[in-house]
Amino acid sequence: MDKQIKLLEDKEQLIKQALDICLGKIQKGITERSQFTIALAGGNTPRPLYESIATQNLAWDKIHVFWGDERYVAPDHPDSNQRMARQAWLDRVPIPPTNIHPMETGAGDPEADALSHDAHLREFFQVSIGEFPSFDLILLGMGGDGHTASLFPHTNALKVSDRLITVGNKDGQPRLTFTVPLINQARCVIFLAAGADKQAALDQVFAKKGDEMNYPSRLIQPQGELQWLLTGVNI
Ligand code: 6PG
Repeated sequence: MDKQIKLLEDKEQLIKQALDICLGKIQKGITERSQFTIALAGGNTPRPLYESIATQNLAWDKIHVFWGDERYVAPDHPDSNQRMARQAWLDRVPIPPTNIHPMETGAGDPEADALSHDAHLREFFQVSIGEFPSFDLILLGMGGDGHTASLFPHTNALKVSDRLITVGNKDGQPRLTFTVPLINQARCVIFLAAGADKQAALDQVFAKKGDEMNYPSRLIQPQGELQWLLTGVNI
């Protein structure tokens, strides 16, 4: 694993750096494999990045967009990660609708929807049970408790190793999430973290020794590149 940690001057510089990396990865993926697969982070930090990507003139027909996690709400709910990314980016570009792969949350049963998205990924990447596909790029945020995607401290989702998608749990609220092994199979993972409220968790995540169950972001050790883009913290 190639790990890089970059401390940027402010949020604007962090987003600019993230855009530069994303554009480079998109170019590389399309050149090498004629397609690019990206999984998006939810939350607030990545929104300006998505707005910046939407201004670019890209080979949209070769770009496939997924989500690393999703709140278990309708796609038009204010908390929906899908809704945020569509508003900030996907509704603004001529990307084929079939290139957008949201985590469905309509079954009224998180486990059923998790299994269905798991099957969708296996079909798209042509991988069988026990195999993990490599996304070209997975974007992640980190919460002040050290969670990432919807892998929250001391939850069962942290231990799932035989699935691509599982059900996460935030204070009793179900979420759908990529599993640790799926994230770690990525060619490149970028964490975007901004603000002093992340400092305590970052100290624990970057410490030589620590409790992965308490700080799940420690579990993200991808076989490819790992880049942390930070601002508003000391490292
Ligand atoms: C979500 C995200 C979650 C997020 C972190 C950081 O669905 O909320 O996937 O893991 O990335 O909570 O959120 P902020 O970027 O808003 O700090």
